[in-house]
Amino acid sequence: MSVHKEVKRITTNTILEMKQKGEKIAMLTSYDYSMATIVDEGGIDVILVGDSASNVMAGHETTLPITLDQMIYHAASVVRAVKRALVVVDLPFGSYQGNSKEALNSAIRIMKESGAHAVKLEGGLEIKESVERIINAGIPVMGHLGLTPQSIYKFGTYTVRAKEEAEAAKLKSDILVLQEAGCFSVVLEKIPAQLALEVTKSVKIPTIGIGAGSNCDGQVLVINDMIGLTKGFKPRFLRQYLNLFEEINGAVQSYVKDVKAGDFPNEKEQY
Ligand code: KIV
Repeated sequence: MSVHKEVKRITTNTILEMKQKGEKIAMLTSYDYSMATIVDEGGIDVILVGDSASNVMAGHETTLPITLDQMIYHAASVVRAVKRALVVVDLPFGSYQGNSKEALNSAIRIMKESGAHAVKLEGGLEIKESVERIINAGIPVMGHLGLTPQSIYKFGTYTVRAKEEAEAAKLKSDILVLQEAGCFSVVLEKIPAQLALEVTKSVKIPTIGIGAGSNCDGQVLVINDMIGLTKGFKPRFLRQYLNLFEEINGAVQSYVKDVKAGDFPNEKEQY
């Protein structure tokens, strides 16, 4: 008899059922093995290997520079750690826009080389063909509407999107396009809470909000922001649960002091 307790894995069906049951979906990003182990053991439903790795891991100003190879490296590290959560990986900028064959090839590389469970793409009607082609190949797709950081140079600012009627109307129609194309859920980033409520009610697939209010079917945050590793980043939508920047900084200062004083290592810490 096996002594190992079976872990019930979260699938895209689980996520859909959670919306039907009115159970909120908790999603966080992760980019490496150690963090993904902690996040998975913490009971998260979905881990997003976000292209925010470009910002928080690589120090770029935007998400645009990260490559498909780099996303696969991060995703494979996360997948090796995860026993329960659904792992979703961002297709990076330039790996799917305007070419559905390339989009499919990029998605296939992510699935084959990282072992992840789904991919995420930014956009609505303009990426419909790519979304359909990827889903037809058997790869689950999560959409992403509202503030789509890969289009930051089109927007010019990271401010709240779809406050004007025309943009709100496009978002309302885009989410239906994504549902029709077969997406299993959609991220709504930085849009008014009332609009998020309306679109969440208009679809059967779950919406996962970031800066989109409490009426989405789930919530997502960038782990580095949520645990206070990102210095000086405190947008209104962010709830910071820890201040790890301060904690780690304090630990480093203590270590430096101990080494300089000849206090580390002590007798018990040597062979
Ligand atoms: O890349 C990312 O971390 C994301 C989330 C902000 C949703 O897309």
